[in-house]
Amino acid sequence: MASKARLPVSKILGMGHYLPSRILTNFDFEKMVDTSDQWIVERTGIRERHIAAPEEAASDLAAEAGRRALADADLDPKELDLIVVCTVTPDQPLPATAMFVQRVIGARSDCPAFDLVAACAGFIYGLSVADSFIRTEQARCVLVVGVEMLSRIIDYEDRSTSVLFGDGAGAAVVGPASGDGSGLVSTHIYADGAMAEALYIPAGGSRLPASEQTVEERLHYVRMTGQDVFKFAVKRLSSATKTAISSNGLSVRDIDWVIPHQANLRIIDAVSQRSGIPRDRFYINIERVGNTSSASIPIALDEAVKAGTIEEGQNVIFCALGGGITWGSALVRW
Ligand code: UT7
Repeated sequence: MASKARLPVSKILGMGHYLPSRILTNFDFEKMVDTSDQWIVERTGIRERHIAAPEEAASDLAAEAGRRALADADLDPKELDLIVVCTVTPDQPLPATAMFVQRVIGARSDCPAFDLVAACAGFIYGLSVADSFIRTEQARCVLVVGVEMLSRIIDYEDRSTSVLFGDGAGAAVVGPASGDGSGLVSTHIYADGAMAEALYIPAGGSRLPASEQTVEERLHYVRMTGQDVFKFAVKRLSSATKTAISSNGLSVRDIDWVIPHQANLRIIDAVSQRSGIPRDRFYINIERVGNTSSASIPIALDEAVKAGTIEEGQNVIFCALGGGITWGSALVRW
């Protein structure tokens, strides 16, 4: 699904992120599973990731990132008209994590709020929803949060997945564009259910409710066919990135920055090659953060904006792919 190229109607007014203080390094993993710092760095680019404290839940991380984004936008939480929390690691199955975020950040007690499950593409899906609500005048200001506590759903006995993921949250306040051409220019979101079992958690839902047996068989943890997802990611992220450019009548030269989902440095290298966008225009923080799924793009974007790396007037592409399989891209004129 694509939004048409036109003058932006919505804009990111403020950003914030939160990373738990505890860090797990590749050397820590060497003591836990049969792996090495060298393998992890060479095959993924990851050196360390942040892990939440036992007492923290997804809404705690999300609320902190949300508060920071609201402060950055200089906006009172009562001015929010919608809260969208993109996550595959909710506090609990019911109610939505967005309810706790609404309560904790002090949004209006009737502010609509819901969770959105699009895995690593969650933030792009969330931006697309925010833009649509603003475009159709159902909302003026929307808080979009990408938050993941992947440490809670990873099998720390499985070296092929455990070394990849980290915890964190990133948030954006999306509001009306100012009419100067800056803002959210386009979003393109996609999904392919044929690949549902390439990256999934078998149990814990209505198909296989939690039981002693599902726990024994470790069916509540993430399972991934890494190579399949890798190949699909390179193909789909490259095409979604090219679409973000061509659908807006732009060329590769017009793109100042790409904020890719930080899943694997080799995927990012391949997307750079295939899309023709030079590698030095990709913002990378995977070595410090690992794969934080839906939080990955807003964390990287906030870092890049606060560091002054992304400047006013620049064209920035976001692209992500994750479990579902879901994927997408967005073009923002900063
Ligand atoms: O964010 C959502 C989207 N997710 C992704 O985009 C992830 C996509 N996939 C990947 O990034 C890569 O496929 C992985 C990083 C997950 C795996 O890298 P790979 O180069 O595709 O490795 P592989 O699965 O082909 O495994 C190669 C070898 C295997 O050993 P054998 O069978 O050749 O003896 C694995 O058992 O590497 C082994 N291996 C490890 N060795 C040391 C797998 N994980 C590890 C590890 N340490 N942590």
